[in-house]
Amino acid sequence: MDQLATGQSRHVLPALPYYHGSLEPHIDARTMALHHDKHHASYVENLNSALEKYPELRGRTAMWLLLNPERIPEVARTAVLNNAGGHVNHSLLWRAMAPGKGGEPTSALADAIKRDFGGFEQFKAQFDEAGGKLFGSGWVWLARVQPDGGRLQVCTTSGHDNPLTQGHFPILVNDLWEHAYYLKHENRRGGYLKGWWPVVNWEEAARRFERSDHSAGRDWEDKGGALLAVTV
Ligand SMILES: [Fe+2]
Repeated sequence: MDQLATGQSRHVLPALPYYHGSLEPHIDARTMALHHDKHHASYVENLNSALEKYPELRGRTAMWLLLNPERIPEVARTAVLNNAGGHVNHSLLWRAMAPGKGGEPTSALADAIKRDFGGFEQFKAQFDEAGGKLFGSGWVWLARVQPDGGRLQVCTTSGHDNPLTQGHFPILVNDLWEHAYYLKHENRRGGYLKGWWPVVNWEEAARRFERSDHSAGRDWEDKGGALLAVTV
């Protein structure tokens, strides 16, 4: 598939790769149902609406839209970027989690975490702290600074910004919007972050880490949607 195009005229909500209740008791089924079926769905719907008047942008991936803001007419730019970001980031989030996972990363990603954070526990503490400190809604990431061979770092983004637009390749992500945790944790974002680790899909993170070694060159220059290893 052309990495710059979806081949579809409308963006589509990707299916959740597991049942709503599969991440229980760590993430409750009701939160997952609302989060995926309502919140993520509304970003997709609003993205399609925002693109309605711009046939030249239809068929572009949401990632392409994020990486090429100057190609979006100014009057529609904020709506397109906000909703494309919501679509991309949630698509990454569903894959960052999986039932019966957790534990620790292995192989090259484990070595890189040790190298750049001093150890797995230090990395987790830094991730939780950064996520807890972000004011308002946003996302917390483990990202790799590009180009090839870049170091890992923890960063946060506001709204639905994605670190790829700042030159960092996302390896792992968690959602800091209240809709991700309020039903179960109410205002306690720290408890939500600490309770999230048992559902982290380190196999997916390792796959992304491996890909980040190879994708910086041409894909990066082309600002391709496939760069994220998720085509939405
Ligand atoms: Fe969310």
